[in-house]
Amino acid sequence: MLLRCLIGIILLLVLAACGTAAQSASTPEPASEGRRLFGLWCGGCHAVTANAPAGIGPGLAGIATRAAAKPDGLSATAWLRREVVDPNATVTPGYAPGFMPITYGRDLRLDQLDALVAYMLTLN
Ligand code: HEC
Repeated sequence: MLLRCLIGIILLLVLAACGTAAQSASTPEPASEGRRLFGLWCGGCHAVTANAPAGIGPGLAGIATRAAAKPDGLSATAWLRREVVDPNATVTPGYAPGFMPITYGRDLRLDQLDALVAYMLTLN
């Protein structure tokens, strides 16, 4: 009886541990999901490491620091969001408008946009 009880308790603990692991795998933290999305959609044009050769778009190493300086009076989040959905609102000096797609505001889900912004906020 006691042994059965113990086995039951151990099984429950194992199941609980598996449940937690499965949950964290299916709901990734926004910044790491953003890193994954960035690799798919943005990394072809934007480097994220300092001293990387310039790509089609400006390197984004340190973008969080620039965003924190409240460009155009916007919060870091609002500015980064605008840079993604409306890249022609301000054009990065030294770069031409018309290269960065202007369709992200339509094509990205809000949670994907939030994840990308969360990731860029880690690029200090
Ligand atoms: C085809 C190339 C291309 C792709 C793909 C692209 N960008 Fe850009 N991006 C650019 C160019 C060129 C600029 C600079 C001109 C401008 O501001 O519009 C830019 C500007 C930016 C800026 C402003 C940088 C600054 O220093 O002011 C951010 C932030 C940015 N992109 C984020 C993204 C994100 C996030 C994605 C993916 C969802 C993405 N870009 C996809 C080419 C691209």
